[in-house]
Amino acid sequence: MNLEEYPITLTLKDGLHVTIRPMTASDGPALLEFFRSLPEEDRQFLREDVTQQEVVARFVANLDYDTVLPLLAINEGKIVGDATLHRTHRGWSSHVGEIRVVVARAFQRNGLGTTLAKYLVRHAISVGLDKMVGEVIDNQVGARRAFERLGFHPEAVLKGHVKDIHGMKRDLVILANDVSHIWEKMEAMVADFSPTFGG
Ligand SMILES: CC(C)(COP(=O)(O)OP(=O)(O)OC[C@H]1O[C@@H](n2cnc3c(N)ncnc32)[C@H](O)[C@@H]1OP(=O)(O)O)[C@@H](O)C(=O)NCCC(=O)NCCS
Repeated sequence: MNLEEYPITLTLKDGLHVTIRPMTASDGPALLEFFRSLPEEDRQFLREDVTQQEVVARFVANLDYDTVLPLLAINEGKIVGDATLHRTHRGWSSHVGEIRVVVARAFQRNGLGTTLAKYLVRHAISVGLDKMVGEVIDNQVGARRAFERLGFHPEAVLKGHVKDIHGMKRDLVILANDVSHIWEKMEAMVADFSPTFGG
């Protein structure tokens, strides 16, 4: 697994600096603070109640990059983005990885979500995954666009599969990408808004 390149420091479109690196066991308190700062709407897809200390404590206690690789984006000591690559090692979908990304509101629309997803896709390719998926609720226009900018496309819709924060049943859209070809395509697609690298 090629994680030696981290930490990576980069400058976002609006000039803010962030450092990207895998989560470590000492990130628990900062991660909890990050999750608690998110609007409910932005963390609903995370499936567990990440505002609970015991949930976050479990994440950091059970770190296993081969199964879940969490990349954090950090600005001035605070976590401002979290992106995870989920894999299973057995069964008929062991060639598939799932990506989940969440970025603090103040840092959105700056290329950070795309950049985090791009690093995870690159990692997925390096560990031999063939296919990536991302799940969004039908009305999450921003999330869907961010995935589509990386070449993901809607592959399935599960009707009424999730309840949103208002208890309303919504369609779950599964976006997919064949990553055996994605990296080359992605470089071209994000070239116009890739952040510049700092020290
Ligand atoms: C989805 C998410 C991670 C995107 O993060 P981000 O840092 O804003 O993403 P980017 O800046 O890389 O945006 C990439 C593109 O997505 C689109 N986009 C992002 N947010 C958008 C919004 N609110 N409305 C419309 N388009 C949006 C834009 O096309 C944008 O590019 P542009 O602003 O240069 O035109 C962020 O909105 C988020 O954390 N949402 C809540 C969590 C979530 O829904 N995660 C997805 C499920 S895994």
